[in-house]
Amino acid sequence: MITVQHLQLQSRQLLKGDDAALEIDTLLAHVLGKNRTFLRTWPEHELTDVQFDHFHQLLQQRLEGKPLAYILEVRDFWRLSLQVNSKVLIPRPDTECMVEAVLKLGDGHQWRVADLGTGSGAIALSLAIEHPEWEITATDLSAESLAIAQLNAAKHQLTNVTFVQGSWFEPLTGKFHCLVSNPPYIAADDPHLSDLQHEPQHALVAADNGLADLTHLVFLSNDFLHENGWLVLEHGFEQGEAVRSLLTQAGFQQVTTEYDYGGNPRYSYGQKPC
Ligand SMILES: C[S@@+](CC[C@H](N)C(=O)[O-])C[C@H]1O[C@@H](n2cnc3c(N)ncnc32)[C@H](O)[C@@H]1O
Repeated sequence: MITVQHLQLQSRQLLKGDDAALEIDTLLAHVLGKNRTFLRTWPEHELTDVQFDHFHQLLQQRLEGKPLAYILEVRDFWRLSLQVNSKVLIPRPDTECMVEAVLKLGDGHQWRVADLGTGSGAIALSLAIEHPEWEITATDLSAESLAIAQLNAAKHQLTNVTFVQGSWFEPLTGKFHCLVSNPPYIAADDPHLSDLQHEPQHALVAADNGLADLTHLVFLSNDFLHENGWLVLEHGFEQGEAVRSLLTQAGFQQVTTEYDYGGNPRYSYGQKPC
């Protein structure tokens, strides 16, 4: 029999990195069916053989580089606990900043919003939980992503989101007050891609140095926005200037880039003129 404390010490010899201690505790808490406070309160608690084997299986996957969210098949985003698997991008805290911006822009309005490329449903469902009165459409090219997003909507009993499959604007009908998207924006030769090998490449990589989907979204959004409607786009930290330039060329006004929690330019938006 091994105690929580022993296993923590042993595992910390194996798993390295800034978040190693937190990740080990998260795996341990998962295996025990407890929260992390339990681990701190009961360091002498002994694991059963079955729990020990289960923990080692999960730790091994982490040591092989699989992200924690894919091992546990869950990731917290905004105030939702989202189901994820290797078919969808793991939602990032940086994207929460963009959710916050959309909520601010739409404050006090009865909006119709589309989240283009919804993945796990992170953006659409965060907006839906804050605004049950908004009419939200979530799209994705990938049927597998949409299935996860729908599952997450059901998990949180969010009924004001419609899911439609297709490429960008293709499945949309009517006009929207806001179009929001976190599209693929990484260049195919970006060295950071090797750190993201467990995530679906179709969610990450775009042609034209990462700008192809962003360009498509900027130039084709006009027909789907009401007058004074907003287009809000996440992008790479080095793409702010390029995206602002695209938005300006397409005739958007009030073009602005905002920063993520790490202080990097992360999303830009503009308003369709009257
Ligand atoms: C960066 S991920 C964002 C996922 C999610 N919105 C988030 O923020 O976590 C990009 C998403 O766009 C989808 N996608 C890629 N190409 C697309 C296209 N042509 N039309 C619609 N969705 C597309 C991918 O399947 C993926 O779910």
